[in-house]
This record gives sequence, structure tokens and C-alpha cells, in this order.
Amino acid sequence: MPFIGQSLPRVDGLAKVRGEAVFAADQLLPNTAYAALVTSSIGKGRVCHVTRSSAASITGVLAIFTHEDLTADIRPVDHVLAGGYANSTLLPLAAPDIAYHGQIVALVVAETGEIAQEAAAILEIVYAPAPVEPAMDSATGAAIPVAALQPAHQDVSQGDVEGALRRAPVSVTAVYETPVQHHNPIELVGTTCTWNGPKLTVYEPTRFVEGVRHGLAIQLGLDPADVRVICPFIGGHFGSKLALSQYTAPVALAARRLGRPVTLVATRAQGFTIANHRPETHHTIRLGADRDGRLLALQHDAVVATSQFDDFAMPGTDVTTALYACPNLSATERVIRVDRNTPGPMRAPPEVPYLFALESAMDELAHALDLDPIALRRRNDTLTNQISGKPFSSRSLLRCFDQGGQAFGWDRRSNKPRAVREGDWWVGLGCASSARPVKVASASLRLRVGADGRVLAETAHHEIGNGLYTILTQMVADALGADPARITVRLGDTSFPPAGLSGGSSTTVSVVGAVRSAAIDLKRQLMRRSTRAGNNGDPDMLSLNVERGELRWPDGYAEPLADLLGRGDIDLVGRFEGSGEGGFAKLDRGLVAVGPGPALSWSFGAQFAEVRVHAETGELRVPRLLGAFAAGSIVNPMTARSQLTGGMIWGLGSALLEETVIDPRSGAYVNANLAEYLMPVAADIGAVEAILLDEIDHQVNPLGVKSLGELGIIGVNAAIANAVFNASGRRLRRLPIRVDDLLG
Ligand code: MOS
Repeated sequence: MPFIGQSLPRVDGLAKVRGEAVFAADQLLPNTAYAALVTSSIGKGRVCHVTRSSAASITGVLAIFTHEDLTADIRPVDHVLAGGYANSTLLPLAAPDIAYHGQIVALVVAETGEIAQEAAAILEIVYAPAPVEPAMDSATGAAIPVAALQPAHQDVSQGDVEGALRRAPVSVTAVYETPVQHHNPIELVGTTCTWNGPKLTVYEPTRFVEGVRHGLAIQLGLDPADVRVICPFIGGHFGSKLALSQYTAPVALAARRLGRPVTLVATRAQGFTIANHRPETHHTIRLGADRDGRLLALQHDAVVATSQFDDFAMPGTDVTTALYACPNLSATERVIRVDRNTPGPMRAPPEVPYLFALESAMDELAHALDLDPIALRRRNDTLTNQISGKPFSSRSLLRCFDQGGQAFGWDRRSNKPRAVREGDWWVGLGCASSARPVKVASASLRLRVGADGRVLAETAHHEIGNGLYTILTQMVADALGADPARITVRLGDTSFPPAGLSGGSSTTVSVVGAVRSAAIDLKRQLMRRSTRAGNNGDPDMLSLNVERGELRWPDGYAEPLADLLGRGDIDLVGRFEGSGEGGFAKLDRGLVAVGPGPALSWSFGAQFAEVRVHAETGELRVPRLLGAFAAGSIVNPMTARSQLTGGMIWGLGSALLEETVIDPRSGAYVNANLAEYLMPVAADIGAVEAILLDEIDHQVNPLGVKSLGELGIIGVNAAIANAVFNASGRRLRRLPIRVDDLLG
């Protein structure tokens, strides 16, 4: 397998740095009109009146659309994670009602973007506001069991947690909180819609072109065959840009009414409310252990926020109750509805907040036991899932701690907090586990081989910055034995064979199967055309190579592809049935079909952080982050490392900087901009190192690849909080940790 495991540079790298990669907003269609959104300035209530005259009088304004214009034209669609296609089921222009601050209330279209924005800014809207409860902390609504929204997620109760906690000689009970966070990809959200008779083409940054296509077809009453969605590149999504958004249908209708293409690029602030976000979470963790540190009881009660009208929830105790050996387990998950836009996945949706809680609590337990935190995890390692009893297909958590700890210099850590001081700085080290279930989806991919030996691979999957163009090139090269330089990969277009959404860190794990099946079919077809076919017994398809314009047999015999192909190219679609949840059937209808594979497979990692806390000012620096990760065989160490280190840096943001602040009176996100929504910049980052462990897993899939994309961010927040405790003696249980928490 010469092409798997190589650090092939990104095949789209040059196009990106030269500005040749065409992102959605780069589409310059002739005669395009420009749209701008108006979003509500109240948190709840309704629109009483819209006065259009001053906005409409600006030269160049073409149309203004509100609920008065579009009410009946957009049909409802279910949420993408509830068997539908929509990021939010709320149709913002269907009625005058306002459900949250920042809801779309009007669409203005003009000859230029500047004119549209100016008209949007002066459109006069009179509202009737109603009382608003935008934040989970102060909301008065009942806590709803997650199972009421998502029946697959039932509360867990195993053994006798109360009894075990009573008897446990050492225990920890603590409450942890994480804030609202927004993805803030640099590429803003928006769409471009253009009609050709009954056919609609959409250029839109989305990580699920098939979902947008099928969802729009329902909303607008179109045949899905008449809707094409194109997205060859995405400038970051991190969990947003999920599926069908609220703005696409209005823009498509505007384009149809005006008879010309209409493009929308929303503002940064609008992106906070017309895209999704990570909801705030609360966790109560109770741990009980014997004096050696063996867990006797683990209880995790979680509460998360969601909107008033969607059933998006974010359960995650299936990971926290299964990470360590523990005979007595209990978990509850509750949802509180607030007056906000619907939240959604943000990378490693549950693990980032849920493992912040568990891995902080594990550190508290280690401290209570005066035990090294890695020793505590070693004492509670398990090869089976505690709930199902199923064995993990591979589990390298302790190897991650061992290799990572060695590279990091963990042996220099003192168990005693506030023990190391260098000049004015308290120095501390912390660690935490990263863990993420491997998820897999169905996928399909077309391979075309020409007489010149060129290979074209096409799938409606997406390049989200993860390097899919590159690793697909490697996987196709590997499966065919072909030269990567002769392979072209095309992505992000519903005219290619259908694929799922780019999410759940499932892409590589999923497309690898489709590549294999297409490659085997292709080689079988070529072999049947060979003069040798049937003479020598058919060889193992994996040993045939499509190389330098020839079909090469394992014994060295070669025939020119031109002879075998005769009149035309061979064109084959390989399909891979991923999860057991109706994969292909869902794939063909653009529905999400990401789920666990047949084996119980998780990827693991160990995160390490060094922090320095200034003794006088509380200033907090993180000179070093190191993570050691085991995610099966690595297709491309360079792109893998770049995903992991990017995730770790983001984890630092999650620990110390990122928080969306809600105005409790209006429900507005008050820091909806990149100046006040804090993210790490280069000056915040010291050494960041990701170590990739060798891990062979024969059960997960033939290539042994596991999920990697979201692994890097998980556990970093806890590792940093644990290091802050080690440095300063302060246990901080609410993120982000700021200087104010460390002063005085
Ligand atoms: Mo990831 S935010 O689970 O697609």
C-alpha cells in the first residue's frame, strides 16, 4: 500500500494559495443581483408593520421580500438530525412571529451588495416585543428528558450508584459549565441561486450538498432532479453549514421572481443567528473510588439548551459512562428550551463539553487520592464498553498517555498544586483523555479510467479543509495501483454519485469502502477484456494495477489500457453501505446516515498542557500543548497532523477564550463579531505537537482507518483547566477560564 501513509502535499494546495480555488461566493454569474438580510432586533414577539418606502426609494433596489410576500411559498421540512434536511424547522418568513433575536425578517435585493446592505439597514420595521427567556441559566421552562426528543438516548442506570457512593472512601461531586460558542468559519454563510427554466442551481458553502438539494426540492415543490447544488470548497464549517439553511429558499424565490441570479453573503453578526452554535451545558459529576483509585461509581447528569421549536439535543453520556471501568453507573440528560435560534453540532459536539466535565472530575479525584492522574486512568482502563459489554475493536488510550507523557516530560509534574514557580509565574502541567466513537456513513463514488491512463474520481462528498481531495487521491492510487499524478478528484456537486454529509469525522472511514468497491469492479471489468482472462485463473483484484496506461498483472504481464478499453472509457460507480441504518436508501434521498459501524470502535488520545499563571496579574499563558493520538492507520500523516494540531489550538480557545455572551433582556448575542468573540491568535500559541501512534485495527474496516477529524479538540479544555489547578491551586469549573478567575 505505497500511497497510504504518505504525506502527499495537498493536491488543491496550489489552487488555494493562488486564489484559483472557487468558493461559493466567488461564483460570478452574469447579471447577478445582490441580496442582504434584515434580522429581527427583538428577541420575541412579532412584526407589526414594515414601511418599505425609504428603503425601496434607493436607486438600484430591485425588491424587498418579507413575510407578506413569501408566506405561502416555502413548505416546511424536518430537521436534518430528525430524518429531514433543515438546520432549523422554523420558516422565518412564513409569519410575522419572531421566535428569537436575529431571526430573518426581510430580504432586500439590489444591483450591488452595498446598495442592498444600505437598504436593509434603513428598512423600517415596527415590532411588538414579548418577554424573552434566552439563556438556560434563567429560563423557567421545564427540563425535558433528551429521550423525549431523541428516543435513542435513554437515561442510564446500572448497578447501585447511590450505595456505592455512600460506601466509597473517596468521592468527588462537582458542577461544570460550558458556554455558548459559535463556529465563526472565515468563509461567511450565504448562497447563490440561479434558474434555467424549471432547473435551479445553487452555489452554497455546505457540508451536505445532497441534503440541501432534497430539502430545497421539498420546500419549493421541485423535482430533486431539477435541483443541483455545487460546493467544491468550504472555507471552514467546524459543525456549521450543516444542511438546508433558512436563507436559501428565499434567495431562490427572489431569483425566480427577478429572473436573474441572486447572491447572498450574510454578515458576520448575522451568521451568529442564521447558522447554528454550540449550546451552553451544565454537568453534575459524582465519582466514588476505593483508596487505590478504582472507580466504584460514576454519575453524570447533564443539561443542555435548545430552541423552543426544534428537537436538536446534544446527548453525550454514552461516551462519559463508557470511557472507564466502573460497575455502578448512572446518567441523565435534560434539555431546556430557550428563546434562541436552534443550536447544532460544533466539532466533537458532545465530547468537548461532556469530557471537560468528566476529565476535570477525574483530575479532582486524582488530587483527592494524591494519585498521579495518568495512574488513575491506568487503574480504570477497560477493554469493553461498560454499558453494552462489547469489546473495543482496539483501544490505545494508555499507550497514548505513555507515549505522550514521555514526549511531554510528565515525570517532571508534581502531584502537589502550586508547587513550581519560575520567577513571577506559577507553572503547572495537566492532562486529559480524548475519546471519540468512530462513525461511518454510506458513500458512493464514480471511477472513470481512460485509454491514456488518466483516472477521474467523483463523489458528492466535500472538501471541508480536511484534505479530502488529497486523501481520496491517495486511496484511489492505492486501490488501483495508479500514479497519484494521473488521478483527478472532483467533489461537492450533486451531479456526482451521492454521498453523505461531511460530519461526525466519518468521511475517510466511509469513502474508503466506496473507493475499494469501485476499484475492484473497475479492475474486474478491465481483466475480463484481457486476452488472458480466464486462462490463468483470475488473480486477486487487489493485486492488479492500473499503472502508466497499462493493466499490470501480478506476474508483470501488462496490456495497454487503450487495447482493453477499445471504443470508450470505463465508468463505474462504487457504493459502500456504511452504517446499519438504511444507508443506501437514505443516501439516495439525501438523508443523514451516519452511525456506528458494525464493530465497537473508538479513537483515543491523550492531551497534555503546560500553563503559566502570573502570580501578580493572573495572566495565563499556555507555552506547550502536546497530544498523542491513536486513530488506526493514517492515510496522510501531514493532513492528519494539521487537523489534530488545528483542533488542539481550537481546544485552547474553548478553554480560555471562546464564549458567546447573551443579553438576558433582548436575547441578542452581544459579541457577534471577531473583535469580541475571542479566539486564539498566533501570540496565544506556543509549541503544539501531535504525535500519531501506530495502531492496527483489523475490525474497523479493511484499511484499518478510524475517525480523526474531531479527535484533536477533545479534552484540551480539561487538560488546560487541570494544568491551571496544578499551577495555581485553583479549580475552575466554568469555561472559559479568564484572568478574572485567577486574580486575588
Ligand atoms: Mo461534527 S460537528 O460531529 O460533524
